[in-house]
Amino acid sequence: MPESLESIDVVAERMVAGGSCIAHLDDGRVALVEGALPGERVEARVTEERPKMVTAAVEVVLDASSDRIAPPCAEVERGCGGCDLQYADPAAQPNLKVEVVRDALRRLARLSDVPIDPGRALPADGYRTTVRAAVRGGRAGFRARRSNDVVTVDSCMVAHPLVEEVLIDGRFDGATEVVVRVGARTGERMVVVSPNAESVSVPPDVRVVGTDELGRGRRAWIHEELAGHRFRVSAQSFFQARPDGAEALVDAVRRALGDPGADAALVDLYGGVGLFSVALGTRAPVLVERSASAVADARVNLAERDAMILKMGVRRWRPVPADVVVADPARSGLGVEGVAAVVGSGAPRVALVSCDPASLARDVGQLASVGYHPLGVELVDLFPRTHHLEAVTALELTEDAADVVELHS
Ligand SMILES: C[S@@+](CC[C@H](N)C(=O)[O-])C[C@H]1O[C@@H](n2cnc3c(N)ncnc32)[C@H](O)[C@@H]1O
Repeated sequence: MPESLESIDVVAERMVAGGSCIAHLDDGRVALVEGALPGERVEARVTEERPKMVTAAVEVVLDASSDRIAPPCAEVERGCGGCDLQYADPAAQPNLKVEVVRDALRRLARLSDVPIDPGRALPADGYRTTVRAAVRGGRAGFRARRSNDVVTVDSCMVAHPLVEEVLIDGRFDGATEVVVRVGARTGERMVVVSPNAESVSVPPDVRVVGTDELGRGRRAWIHEELAGHRFRVSAQSFFQARPDGAEALVDAVRRALGDPGADAALVDLYGGVGLFSVALGTRAPVLVERSASAVADARVNLAERDAMILKMGVRRWRPVPADVVVADPARSGLGVEGVAAVVGSGAPRVALVSCDPASLARDVGQLASVGYHPLGVELVDLFPRTHHLEAVTALELTEDAADVVELHS
């Protein structure tokens, strides 16, 4: 074990998954430095030491990147750690995220020549229509940087104004956590309060529900509009955290699938409340989703279509032939079962939607190994001012692999 260190003076190289930058120490170890931007020389306090790796957090920026800005949010000064890239110019963030995906594809999938498009910029402020907050002393707040403490806030620059009002003015006595969710285009609002909503004060239009009531079967929902469609979204259903971002995601998926026509046989794996099945406009989509709440919403949202909505895990689904597949798994990615479902469909074109660079790289690597050639990745920056990213990968079944899939189906 090399000599132990309290602080390090390093040059940050590239950003990696999670938003930290890689640097190299003179003793040969790699450092993961939080709070740095590529190219910057920083002094950083060591937070953890291992035989081959050190993690550290920036204390002083000795040589700043031109992409560094003073955090514009007043709450950062008070210790709020809600948005971990407040120090990076929003205009620079899409390209930083491109490099994160490039690094993951190269290291985890040995793919170094996949084109990656940063996508078009979305507004960096007032965008989030779903926010999960901790509650302390009846007030909503966010985790402090590098700690489990909660900082109650007087403003939130990334929350949609309809969310921000509930976060700031709401009082949630006896609660430990709240989720505020609004329909930006319908104005409908809802709070889900844990463990119960017995002593809650919010503006009169806000629907209030406790997680205890949800557990006993109570239903509560709001509606959102996007891409010319209306969606019902229940308290326990997943929905994209901003409608303009959901529209950008639908556009990226449509491009990845080569603009499928109304008659295309679409399979929507991990389909949620039906965002892609509804917005892509195919006549008879097949949607696979395991959440009962999301499936109930999908049945309402797809009522006008000849849709087949299957409430089951992807592992249990018996693949049917498809022209196009959209697969939008949770953070952990497709894994073996999701890859098997895609392959089983034999679809010539696939859009993989990923929210984690490591699982994106693993999934693309596995799909490439069974004959799905990655044509390109398009980022959709749903979460400016944070390291989080969303990416759509277009994959095409190569002819040789199509023969193999045919043979086994
Ligand atoms: C990232 S969300 C995407 C939902 C939808 N595509 C959208 O954009 O609104 C992932 C969805 O997959 C569902 N899910 C997670 N694991 C699953 C599995 N093994 N089988 C089926 N659905 C699953 C979750 O309930 C969630 O609705």
